[in-house]
Amino acid sequence: MEYFCNEKYQYHLGEDNLELLDGILRESQGRGIVVIDKNVLRLYQGLIDRAFAVGTIGRYVLEGGEKSKNLAQIEALYAKFAQYGADRTTPIFAIGGGVTGDIVGLAAATYMRGLPLVQIPTTLLAMVDSSIGGKNGIDLPQGKNLVGTFYNPRLIVADIRFLSTLPSLEWSNGLAEIFKAALISETGFLSGLEAGCHKYFGSKGWEENEGDSERFCAKGEGKLSADRANEVSTGADNGTLPVGLYQSLYRNHQFLVYLIRSAVEEKLYLVDRDPKDSGGDRFKLNLGHTFAHSLEVASSYSLPHGRAVGIGMILATSLALNLGILEEPLMPRMKRLLGFWGLPVSVPAGLDWKAAVDSLAFDKKRHLGRSVFVVPLAAGKVVKVEGIERALLERIFNGSFSTYSGEGHLSVR
Ligand SMILES: NC(=O)c1ccc[n+]([C@@H]2O[C@H](COP(=O)([O-])OP(=O)(O)OC[C@H]3O[C@@H](n4cnc5c(N)ncnc54)[C@H](O)[C@@H]3O)[C@@H](O)[C@H]2O)c1
Repeated sequence: MEYFCNEKYQYHLGEDNLELLDGILRESQGRGIVVIDKNVLRLYQGLIDRAFAVGTIGRYVLEGGEKSKNLAQIEALYAKFAQYGADRTTPIFAIGGGVTGDIVGLAAATYMRGLPLVQIPTTLLAMVDSSIGGKNGIDLPQGKNLVGTFYNPRLIVADIRFLSTLPSLEWSNGLAEIFKAALISETGFLSGLEAGCHKYFGSKGWEENEGDSERFCAKGEGKLSADRANEVSTGADNGTLPVGLYQSLYRNHQFLVYLIRSAVEEKLYLVDRDPKDSGGDRFKLNLGHTFAHSLEVASSYSLPHGRAVGIGMILATSLALNLGILEEPLMPRMKRLLGFWGLPVSVPAGLDWKAAVDSLAFDKKRHLGRSVFVVPLAAGKVVKVEGIERALLERIFNGSFSTYSGEGHLSVR
């Protein structure tokens, strides 16, 4: 079943839609190469075998995990491509989450100056974010995503069946990016999302929720396809994620498809207007992310990305509030949304927030030596601000808000 298709970027969202690969497989006369995340292969061996029944010239299994996003993996892939006799007509199929997509994207973009790439995202985050927009990359010891290219896949096939085994931590990571897309969307996605929460989850406490995630954590409700998901190691979720809600969301295909489709449309719209991230609208996708990265660094990456992005959006909203440029009461809306879906709404106690402020000095998106923050003014309206004084940043991070009176060298663009 097809739920959505964007012709220009060949993005297909559906259920049981892997037969879309047939055209590319036949065109290449069975000479494709599959590169797949180890956990995904273990969970979906039968489905993958059926989808590639036409044949391939090789299959390579990636260990997965952020640790594998390194140069050694790229070299290993080049060696495999050479061993299998890949040429410039050999399609490369990347099956997995954002880590797989980023590694395989870079290898495919650079081997023989570019092999046809097909992305088959299997996490929510990969479906709504990392498979779209052409960015790929690996990490260096000096920092994350420091090496990469822009290289669009020929086809992206997102099959929501993969989400049936997604661990709760990965749901929260993908949802945070969906909520960011909703906040920046000019098409009313945030209101649609809130209306959906009210309609489908009113009985689970959406109305009463005021951003207190602990109150709404359905502890002990069991994970999605518990047995199979538990096989996948993703790090602890501290037992605080509302796994029952994620389960309900997975079962509610109508709302799930609405969320994925709306987030995908938002990202496609922005990357289309600024394909190489060169000063156009694509900056909006960075909403909350400068704060989020600093928190991840300060926590030595023990704070999961989705939680960091959730807090980052709150801090960005708080910055706008403190600067007196917020045009709508967004804070309660964001706290309610994030809290309801199990994402934190303040910097966790115990996290060294001063180290987070320090780390902003090394952010790679700085402009003329100054940190740039993307902040919301209203739903669908975001701007860049820079030249924020450290004293204000400290107040934002430690939650002691007050109205900002300093001038600094503030610039709002
Ligand atoms: N290129 C971009 O534009 C872009 C954008 C955002 C993020 N990223 C990158 O994406 C990466 C994060 O991606 P991610 O969150 O998908 O992580 P991931 O690829 O590590 O996947 C998360 C975990 O889920 C498992 N998994 C994957 N699919 C599954 C399924 N269907 N069922 C059960 N388990 C499954 C994986 O084995 C892994 O353990 C980061 O490296 C980040 O830098 C890239």
